[in-house]
Amino acid sequence: MGVFKVKGGKKLSGSLTIQGAKNSALPILAATLLIKDKSVLHNCPDLTDVSAALKILVMLGCVCVRDDNTVIVDARDAANFEISKELMREMRSSVVFLGAMISRMGRAVITNPGGCELGPRPIDLHISSLKQLGVLVEEADDKIICTAPKGIIGSEIRLDFPSVGATENIIIAACISKGTTVIKNAAKEPEISDLADFLNRAGGKVKGAGSSVVTIEGVNRLYSTEHRVLPDRIVAATYLCAAALTGGEIRLKDCNAVNMMSLLDFFTQIGCMVKSNGKEICIRGKEIYRPTKQIITDVYPAFPTDAGPIVVPLFSKIGGVQSIKETIFQNRFRYISELNKFGANMRLEGDTAVSFGAVKLKATEVKCTDLRGGAALVLAALCCEGESIINDIHHIERGYCNMHKCLNAIGGNATISEV
Ligand code: UD1
Repeated sequence: MGVFKVKGGKKLSGSLTIQGAKNSALPILAATLLIKDKSVLHNCPDLTDVSAALKILVMLGCVCVRDDNTVIVDARDAANFEISKELMREMRSSVVFLGAMISRMGRAVITNPGGCELGPRPIDLHISSLKQLGVLVEEADDKIICTAPKGIIGSEIRLDFPSVGATENIIIAACISKGTTVIKNAAKEPEISDLADFLNRAGGKVKGAGSSVVTIEGVNRLYSTEHRVLPDRIVAATYLCAAALTGGEIRLKDCNAVNMMSLLDFFTQIGCMVKSNGKEICIRGKEIYRPTKQIITDVYPAFPTDAGPIVVPLFSKIGGVQSIKETIFQNRFRYISELNKFGANMRLEGDTAVSFGAVKLKATEVKCTDLRGGAALVLAALCCEGESIINDIHHIERGYCNMHKCLNAIGGNATISEV
C-alpha cells in the first residue's frame, strides 16, 4: 500500500503540463475495439484505471503497447466477449466496454458493477438504452449477458438523466450499426465530444456531441486512426487549487480553459487572479479568500462533481461561511471527516458540506477514501506546516500521473513510499 508524505507550508510556483483526461481515455480505449486495425492514442495517461482498461482489451484478444504516453491498440484479433469479475471490480467504469463488445462480437458478458466508493452505481440507463438498439439482456447470478442477434439497430433514445457513461455506451454501440440513432438528453461533457472526435476520425458519423442531442448515423466499418486525448480538466483544477491554497502562482500548459469555465469562475469569485489564453491558465493565489455563492455540482457545463472535493480544502482559507451541495453521487463526502483531521471546520448537512470560516490547517495522518477525496487530502497537506501522511494512495493513482513529481516540479515536497 502506497503512502504519500507531504511537507507543506511552501508557496507553489512554476509551470506544469496537464496530463490527458482519464475520463476521455477510458471510453476511447473501449471504442478501439470497434476498429479491426491499429488505433494510436497520444497523451494517454499512465494510470491504474487506464492499465485496467488495457488489461480488459488484452483479455478480449487485443494487443496493446504503451510507449511513454502513446498507446497502440491492435484489435484485429479481438474475439473474446467476457470481462472477468476481478477486472470489473478493479474499475467499475469498465461497463463502458459493454457497447463496444456487443458491436464487435455480437455479445458481451460482464458482472454487475454493484456499488463503488461514491455510492450505488446502477447501470439501468446503459441497459435500457442498449435494449432499444436491439440488444437482448439477461441477468444470471451476478452476470449480465447481452446478445445482439440482428446486430445493432438504430433507434431514438431519450435518457431520463444525461448519464456520461450511458451516452458513451450508446455512441460506441451505435457507431457501426444499421440505421440512425438519436440520443435525446445526452450528456454534454467535453469527454463525450472527445470520444466522438476519435470515432469520426476513424470514419464514424457522430454529430452533435457536446450538445443534448447526439445523432449517430451507423456505418459499416471503422478504420485505423490516431488521436490525441484531451487534457484532464479535473487534474488541471487540482493544480490550480494547489497554487491557490499556498498563495502561490502557477501556469498550466496544455489545458483547455473553455471546458473549465465553472471552475475558473469559482477561483475568480473567491479572489484569485486567473488569466487564460485558452490553452494555458495562470493563477495567482492570496492568503485569504472571500466567500462566494453556494457551489452546486451538476452535469456539464455546471460545476463538476469530480471537482467538488478538489476545491473544498480551499474553504479553510475562505473568511466566512462557504458551502457545496452535491447532486450527482450519494457518498461524495466521505473525505470530509478525514479533512477535519487537519482541523478543517466542516460540517455535513445532508447533501451539503458547510465550512464556517478560515482556519489554519495542521499536519496530520489521514486515509484516502476515494480518488478525488484523496486528492483533496494531499491539497490540504500542502498548506500545513510540517509533514502530513496520506495513506491508501492507490485511490489517487487511479486518476493522477505522478502527482508527487508534479507537485515537486512546482516547489512542493512530496514523496511516495510503500508500507
Ligand atoms: C462519469 C465519470 C465520473 C464522473 C461522472 C459524472 C468516467 C469514467 N467517470 O461517471 O468521473 O463523476 O461521469 O460527471 O467518465 N446513473 C444511474 N443509472 C445509470 C447510470 C448512471 O442511476 O444507468 C446515475 C449514477 O448513479 C450517478 C449519476 O447517474 O448518480 C451520474 O452517473 P454518470 O453520469 O453515468 O457517471 P459515470 O459515467 O459513471
